[in-house]
Amino acid sequence: MNFKEELEKKTGEVETILAEYLPKQEGFQGKVLEAMGYAVSAGGKRLRPLLMRESADLFGETAEGLPCFMAALEFIHTYSLIHDDLPALDNDDYRRGRKTTHVVYGEDIAVIAGDGLLNYAYETALRAFEKAVTIEDYQRTERALKILGRKAGVYGMVGGQCADLLAEKPETEVTEEMLLYIHRNKTAALIQAAMMIGAVLAGADDKAVELMERCAENIGIAFQIQDDILDVTSSLEVLGKPTGSDEKNHKLTYVTMHGLEESKRQVAALSEEAVGILKGFSHRNAFLETLVEQLIYREK
Ligand code: IPE
Ligand code: IPE
Ligand code: MG
Ligand code: MG
Ligand code: MG
Repeated sequence: MNFKEELEKKTGEVETILAEYLPKQEGFQGKVLEAMGYAVSAGGKRLRPLLMRESADLFGETAEGLPCFMAALEFIHTYSLIHDDLPALDNDDYRRGRKTTHVVYGEDIAVIAGDGLLNYAYETALRAFEKAVTIEDYQRTERALKILGRKAGVYGMVGGQCADLLAEKPETEVTEEMLLYIHRNKTAALIQAAMMIGAVLAGADDKAVELMERCAENIGIAFQIQDDILDVTSSLEVLGKPTGSDEKNHKLTYVTMHGLEESKRQVAALSEEAVGILKGFSHRNAFLETLVEQLIYREK
């Protein structure tokens, strides 16, 4: 099977897991459940759950609780997108090739759909305890939960979003250090959660988990630089979300600071470093290595 076919098959498997874990749209809270479902089901690359599963595969053992965490992380990522698109933040009308959640359901429902997904993510991750059998399973699940909480919160993605928003203000002087903080946290943190949780659930030792954290940091920073490149060079049709969003919001990015060519070089260099780390493990995962390499050339 070639890489493209394999990617399609594996993405399809993620879709099945998400559909299984999404709550039923019923009751007086039906509207918020519908909005949550709208945002999640719109598609997207499903990169984080894919990275989680492939990282687990790198360490061999199949963990029954893995799908719970794959769904949980995609729910958190999707909530972050719903809120990121709100008029108070980036004010964007398209996401994943569809109108954004607040455009379809109104800002009020979009805000609580984000809240709902964030909370439901932890309800979903907690279900991994039901699948635990051995004491190791319990310990690994606990460790994975701590990683999820930390990387998604103020010391991770939320912290990065905060700095990102402050950086748009004319009175803020954005330094290289601040820009790196933003990339590391608003984007790399959830990618780190994906790869670390996959590794932890499959029984990786501390040293390996630390290596996965570094590997994912490189992937995440490269991923955000590429996102900023595409914001300048792509189109709504290809990207599924508006281009020019950063310029509209007076956002200083790696691209505005260093130019397109240097940005592209950075994406390639960081990705190659990440692949280098993956190649250092005793078990190799060719699909994962190719996936990371392909991100350098991604067009959406
Ligand atoms: C978009 O993430 C937000 C960033 C961190 C740049 P993705 O590019 O992974 O979005 P989807 O999930 O494919 O829609
Ligand atoms: C957002 O970064 C990262 C999040 C945590 C949501 P961007 O604002 O650049 O993401 P897009 O371009 O809207 O997907
Ligand atoms: Mg943003
Ligand atoms: Mg945005
Ligand atoms: Mg962007």
